[in-house]
Amino acid sequence: MNFNQPISSLIRKRFSCRTYQDLPIQNSVLAALEDFTDSCLIGPLGNQVRFKIVAAKEGDSASLKGLGTYGFIKNPTGFIIGVSKEESGALEDFGYLMEAILLRATDLGLGNCWLGGTFTKSRFARQLSLLDGEITPAVASIGYPADQFTWMDKTIRAGARAHSRLLWENIFFNKEFGNPLHPDEAGIYHESLDLVRLAPSASNKQPWRVVRDGQNWHFFLQRTTNYPPSVFDFILNLADLQRVDMGIAMAHFELSARENGLNGKWIVHPPDIPLPNQLTEYSTTWQEDEGYNQ
Ligand SMILES: Cc1cc2nc3c(=O)[nH]c(=O)nc-3n(C[C@H](O)[C@H](O)[C@H](O)COP(=O)(O)O)c2cc1C
Repeated sequence: MNFNQPISSLIRKRFSCRTYQDLPIQNSVLAALEDFTDSCLIGPLGNQVRFKIVAAKEGDSASLKGLGTYGFIKNPTGFIIGVSKEESGALEDFGYLMEAILLRATDLGLGNCWLGGTFTKSRFARQLSLLDGEITPAVASIGYPADQFTWMDKTIRAGARAHSRLLWENIFFNKEFGNPLHPDEAGIYHESLDLVRLAPSASNKQPWRVVRDGQNWHFFLQRTTNYPPSVFDFILNLADLQRVDMGIAMAHFELSARENGLNGKWIVHPPDIPLPNQLTEYSTTWQEDEGYNQ
């Protein structure tokens, strides 16, 4: 996966952009994004995912006709539509690859916003002719960012407390839950964890938890209790989107680790670590290659 800018600056630049300039995306930019998207076929947990970019050409707003966002997004000039299965690891792979594509979009100067609930699902799905067992878990709007947020943008950002993130000590642990991992103890993985922390998530719930045990970085999903669901969570069908969120966190972790020369692989091998509550579940483990442990 090639980016022109450092992954750490792309992650820091990215934000959920819901207001775009009324300008079609340049052909060269679209072509570069399509090249990247074409290479995103299989996620790190081995599942196939399909993506399609739909963009309005100059003077042709009809190509986006029917692709609605319930007024959440103003002037989108394109969408990335993705399709995956729901089986084990597939939603995580979907989240991982879609986030990589959105970081490449950021690299190319495009604003973007994940949409897991506020999009007309069946109409978007029609663009990719779903096969048996396939779903469209989320799509993303893309376009050139407007200079100012609209009131809708401001309201959504305030509702999701979009600028805030959980503290390190609440999400990163050493050997067991309840034992916070001090940033100094993360060593050369410090930056990768910082970038996990900045990841976008549905309703900004940040459901990822990481427990380090030597060369293993175990990722756990801390599900948000859905009873009673808020109206927004209900619209978003938050339960499954939290697995997509996990894939996004994995992408931030791995892409930045690799950029820092740290190699490893994802394995699924639940560790013997007591879970803090019934809403916590094991997801996957980044296993560092030999020689990187410190
Ligand atoms: C899987 C997923 C689904 C999302 N769905 C929506 C959505 O339907 N509508 C929306 O306006 N924002 C949606 N968002 C954006 C989040 O609200 C946003 O990432 C979060 O509030 C943090 O803000 P930031 O992205 O600006 O850092 C979604 C984000 C993710 C990762």
